[in-house]
Amino acid sequence: MIFESLEFFLTPTTPLARKYGFLYSSISLKHRYERCKKMWIPHLKNCQDLFTDAVASLPQKKSVVILGSAHLHEIPMHLLLENFEQITLVDVVHPLKHHWLAKRNHRVKLITQDLTEALQHLEKLNSLDELHALGQELAGKDLFHFEADLIVSANLLSQLALLPIDAIEKKLKRELTVDEKDQICTDFAQTHLKNLEGCKGKKLIYADREVIYKDPQGEVIYRGHYPVNFAGYKELKKWNWVLAPLGEASKKYSVEMNIEAYSK
Ligand SMILES: C[S@@+](CC[C@H](N)C(=O)[O-])C[C@H]1O[C@@H](n2cnc3c(N)ncnc32)[C@H](O)[C@@H]1O
Repeated sequence: MIFESLEFFLTPTTPLARKYGFLYSSISLKHRYERCKKMWIPHLKNCQDLFTDAVASLPQKKSVVILGSAHLHEIPMHLLLENFEQITLVDVVHPLKHHWLAKRNHRVKLITQDLTEALQHLEKLNSLDELHALGQELAGKDLFHFEADLIVSANLLSQLALLPIDAIEKKLKRELTVDEKDQICTDFAQTHLKNLEGCKGKKLIYADREVIYKDPQGEVIYRGHYPVNFAGYKELKKWNWVLAPLGEASKKYSVEMNIEAYSK
């Protein structure tokens, strides 16, 4: 507990990241990994195998960019350091250990960035129409541009719309319908793909766009899945990830994700 509190106070964060709970989520994710890592092994192995295959196909291995790098559970730092000269990690918040490493190792660079550019506008939103209008405006902008031998979007896609949905639900004082949520998730995901498309280098995407809740008997009680057009990308693999076994997030349900991997 003391260590977690220290981590909370010592980790450098932007006011926006603190305000929207990214640091708290980041520390929670690390502890969930510690508790669930045995169940996560098949998921982590799939991510690492696909990363290794992508690296093997590259004509040169100077640079890699990881979008949504978090703790690098999926592509561990040692694999990045073994394969690339320059490593760029992009996230709204970076764990303390990556800050320490980036200070000691000039090959590692951290970029702290909201890849949606939506967070700074959330407080001003008053209606669902305004959120859609913001989505449309951001869809027409260049939100990020990276050039590297390999650029990985690492289980970030579904995260992008979470806070915008949360903000508008709080403002409207009601839960959005599944269709309303799906539309927002689709819009944010397509904008992310459009910007990724504009980046220079080989792309690898781990997309976490289906969530499944199961009751203690293993019956599906909720399935959330929204449409995304991956036209132009090659589908590499699909798999199931037991993100939170029964008792981890709740005694009433387990949480699983269906992950898809694409490359271009
Ligand atoms: C599920 S985690 C990714 C796991 C990570 N690839 C790993 O191996 O540990 C999603 C990450 O996306 C980041 N994220 C969420 N919204 C973001 C945004 N708008 N811009 C940049 N990063 C964001 C979160 O901070 C989180 O670290």
